[in-house]
Order: sequence, then C-alpha cells, then structure tokens
Amino acid sequence: MRQTLETKAGRPGADRLPRHIAIIMDGNGRWAKKRGLPRTMGHKAGAETFRNIALYCQKLGVEYLTVYAFSTENWKRPAEEVSAIMGLLESYLTESIEKMVRQGVRLQVLGDIAPLPERIRRLIDRTDALSRTIDGMTASLCVNYGGRDEIVRAARAYAADYARDGRDLTEQSFSRYLYTADMPDPDLLIRPSGEQRISNFLLWQCAYSEFYYTDTLWPDFDEAELDRAIAAYQRRDRRYGGVNQ
Ligand code: FPP
Repeated sequence: MRQTLETKAGRPGADRLPRHIAIIMDGNGRWAKKRGLPRTMGHKAGAETFRNIALYCQKLGVEYLTVYAFSTENWKRPAEEVSAIMGLLESYLTESIEKMVRQGVRLQVLGDIAPLPERIRRLIDRTDALSRTIDGMTASLCVNYGGRDEIVRAARAYAADYARDGRDLTEQSFSRYLYTADMPDPDLLIRPSGEQRISNFLLWQCAYSEFYYTDTLWPDFDEAELDRAIAAYQRRDRRYGGVNQ
C-alpha cells in the first residue's frame, strides 16, 4: 500500500496528497533552552523552519499551508518575547513581499490584526494586495488568532447580516464568515513537540482533520518529518462519520 502512495525517493506521491496542511509550530522555547539560548532564538529558528516547510509544501503540490504563529492568548507571554515574535513577523513580511512573487506563493495573515503595531498592519495590507495577483500555494500565518474568537466574530457578523436580510444559516454559509472563508478545511493537522492538544486553533475547520503528532521540536522539523506526516495521513481511512464499505 505504502509503495503506491510514495515516490521512489520516499517523497509523498500526488495520490491523496493533503490539499491543506495546518501546523501548530510548537517547541521553539524548549529547542532554545536545550541549547542554552534565549527563547527568542527558538522563535527565530522556528520562522526559518516555516520558510523551508512552506517551500517544500509548494514543491510537493500542497495547495494550502496554515500555521499558528501567535494566538489570542500569547499576549500573556513576557513583553520581550511578544516583541521578538512581532519583530520576526515584520522582518518576515518585509522580506517575503518580493520573494513571494518570485516563488509564486500567496501569503496572508489570518486573525484580528487591529491590535498589531501599525507598521505590521501596513505590511499585511501590502502583502494582501500583492497576494491577490498571485495564483499559487496559499501560505497563511495565523496571528492574534483564536478559534473561539473567530467563531464569535463570525456569529456577530452573521447576526448583523441576518438583521438586514433574514438569510437562513447553514454550516456552509457560516463558514463564509470565518477568516478561512475561501479555503478548504485542513486535511492534516500537525503538532510537533510532543503536545497533543488543539490549543484553540482552527476549531471549526478541523472538525474532520486528521491529526499527526511528533516529538520533534518545531525548529528541527524538516522535509523528512513532513514526508512522514503525509505518509501517515495517506494511510488513514477518512470516514467523516460514515462507514466505508
Ligand atoms: C510555540 O512555541 C510558538 C509560538 C507561540 C510562536 C511561533 C512564532 C514563530 C515561529 C515566529 C513567527 C513566525 C513567522 C513565520 C514569522 P513555544 O514558545 O510555546 O515553545 P515551548 O512550548 O517549547 O515553550
């Protein structure tokens, strides 16, 4: 079975490739601590891993990659760490604006960007404008993102529309109010670093996602690890609550 799903080089084949992969980039702090480095160095290494994994996903033909970069709860971290993550986001967006066009990757930020520093909001606007002109893999960075917060915001927006035109609500129409409105749900959700919880990430969208956990810390996550995650996914039997004959 496995041989039919993987190429000779061990890379996942196109058969049953997940269209959308979501990743909780966890373990940066522990990675840094193990090396006697400040936690912020772990985030720096984690941002580099994101860059590599996004390019590898694009090479494989994955259409959507969505990663958790900063949650609505992460403001509770020490101010120095929060500002280091914001700094990484700013430099990542600055560098990526040009690279994206060359590499054909659409980059977007999902979440409540209102409380972010103005410089970053401006960069996000520029990135969005440019992304609309690109027809390639969509890489989404979830920043100041919380799954419950997203659902509450969507419910409010729906209620406002309902008051205007009384349109009925379905699962499909509700999805249109989420940050991920135009995207398919994640097929595969990966969490490195040995933790096995969803941590308020894509709560609505992951209803039927396949989970893959690994002890590898995010900065050490590489192409071979992604190959293993995809191979595990390809062996899963997705039933969506039904029964396969
Ligand atoms: C979780 O690891 C990681 C975060 C809360 C931040 C992730 C942010 C980045 C990788 C940088 C921004 C990303 C880009 C692409 C610009 P943790 O700190 O909770 O690790 P620990 O559990 O080992 O302490």
